Amino acid sequence: MYRYILELRHLLRSLLLLSVMTATGAQAAEKIDLIIDTDPGADDVVALLLALASPDELSVRALTTVAGNVRLDKTSRNARLAREWAGREEVPVYAGAPKPMMRTPIYAENIHGKEGLSGVTVYEPKKGLEQGNAIDYLIDTLMSARPHSITIAILGPQTNLALALIQEPGIVQGINEVVIMGGAHFNGGNITPVAEFNLFADPHAAEVVVKSGVKLTYLPLDVTHKILTSEARLKQIAALNNNASKRVGEILNEYVKGDMEHYGIPGGPVHDASVIAYLLKPELFSGRPVNVVIDSREGPTFGQTIVDWYDTLKAPKNAFWVESGDAQGFFDLLTERLARLK
Ligand code: RIB
Ligand code: CA
Repeated sequence: MYRYILELRHLLRSLLLLSVMTATGAQAAEKIDLIIDTDPGADDVVALLLALASPDELSVRALTTVAGNVRLDKTSRNARLAREWAGREEVPVYAGAPKPMMRTPIYAENIHGKEGLSGVTVYEPKKGLEQGNAIDYLIDTLMSARPHSITIAILGPQTNLALALIQEPGIVQGINEVVIMGGAHFNGGNITPVAEFNLFADPHAAEVVVKSGVKLTYLPLDVTHKILTSEARLKQIAALNNNASKRVGEILNEYVKGDMEHYGIPGGPVHDASVIAYLLKPELFSGRPVNVVIDSREGPTFGQTIVDWYDTLKAPKNAFWVESGDAQGFFDLLTERLARLK
């Protein structure tokens, strides 16, 4: 049933684009006008390579960085590395919040390594950060954007967008949709028994975002834990035999070790890249509109996303919760796009 909702949304989006194309005689389908907010992070880098390798569908305006997996200086350097490896140095990188809104900062160096990118040699990329911070960039861009024209993909804690919303609530006018990697419902968390890392790292920010009323889509652990690497899938990437595929292989081989050991599974998730795959091929995914509440109370449920999947409370639906995805379709898409890079 809900797969049909997603396919209907995709069909409607395509019909709308078709009508726009026929009306304007436009050749290419309308691109997604996109800002990627990120805390690279191994899976963030894979997501950035996938996005930057897809210029026909995604017009990436900028990358905005946030502290999360590692400190801000390292997430910002790693975002610039991904940009360089994708050959897309025209895309600006703005550094954002160095710490969460209220809680004490936490990091995930145990998973991503001290530099936030185990498996590869990190170095200072040629091109630097843009002047100015990400929060001001978000405010300036969203306040001057066409109404509801910009999609924001959030691959880390939601601190940057939350601070921008607090400073200038009017930015909602420029937002089309916010697509978030985060949260967990059906099978528990990855940083506590109930919380997923991005939400746990800044639940107050997630509360600000959900209360803003913007169109929200969540890709939680419910779906990312169904899209796992395997020997065969890593081999299909390695067979591309270019720098991008080599780096992704080295990054993923290191990154998935933690999850494989923790969950006793034969492969690991590539969480953040699912957000980009959803933007590129939503038909690979399914979910349903839900009411989601973020728990920011100190205690065992801190950072939990409480999802009313069966609409028990008949509360307003404030997010689209993606619960399943086509794993092989994801890896085929990732492989096909990495083949485009050097
Ligand atoms: O829980 C997974 C999420 O936390 C991913 O975004 C990963 O990069 C970390 O930020
Ligand atoms: Ca991330």
